[in-house]
Amino acid sequence: MLELKGLTCGYGRFVAVRDLSFTVRRGEAMAVLGANGAGKTSTLMAIAGQVAVQSGAILFDGEDITALSPMARCARGLALAPEGRRLFRDLTVRENLVVGGYVRAARATAANMDKVLALFPRLEERLDNLAGSLSGGEQQMAAIGRAMMAEPRLLLIDEVSLGLMPKNVDICYEALDALRRAGLTIVLIEQSLERVLDMVDHVCVLESGSLAWAGTAADARGNPDVIRAYMGGVHG
Ligand SMILES: Nc1ncnc2c1ncn2[C@@H]1O[C@H](COP(=O)(O)OP(=O)(O)OP(=O)(O)O)[C@@H](O)[C@H]1O
Ligand SMILES: [Mg+2]
Repeated sequence: MLELKGLTCGYGRFVAVRDLSFTVRRGEAMAVLGANGAGKTSTLMAIAGQVAVQSGAILFDGEDITALSPMARCARGLALAPEGRRLFRDLTVRENLVVGGYVRAARATAANMDKVLALFPRLEERLDNLAGSLSGGEQQMAAIGRAMMAEPRLLLIDEVSLGLMPKNVDICYEALDALRRAGLTIVLIEQSLERVLDMVDHVCVLESGSLAWAGTAADARGNPDVIRAYMGGVHG
């Protein structure tokens, strides 16, 4: 469903990610791991069309989407829950969700919102609250919900559990499991190694903007190479 071919991306002349290739098949989940500054967010943002691709290509369902706008990618079924959630703080939760469904027909909004509320019942009580007033966990639910309003076939999530209370981490992972069982393809970034290995099929580890390791979640578990790269090569 998603193929990166020698993706090099960055900011101006600065290269954040160099010559990255990987494939994600329909229905699979992949985790992108790596130390701070390794290039995880830049990779996801390049896939979503929000960081400049300097060379290489991004294919979605076999179509080269490298030159498409973020909006056109979203219309094709690719949605991002970004680092730091990036909700519209001065809009209500309901309004944030409506914005997420902007690429879909207005008549689909109510049904899609019902699906999001079934996934995250907690949001129901918060629908008319300003997004900026939510707890970190509720904001993450709203950010994932906003992405789901676009009816994605591929969901990108940057930092699922960062800064969340354990109970909310459970809620978010249970929701992602349910989405996977329903056939959604997921690429996520995660800091907490143990949690994520139970959820994904494949792992790729970035180190200083390059692919340091790629393999199955089972092979990643307890693998010293993965742990070293993940820790930034400092902690052995
Ligand atoms: N807007 C930007 N302008 C210039 N350089 C940037 C920008 N955002 C990130 N970078 C640089 O790109 C490199 C990769 O950063 P990126 O945010 O992709 O890493 P990351 O793996 O997501 O890190 P973290 O775990 O801290 O979120 C870093 O050297 C970073 O300083
Ligand atoms: Mg990041």
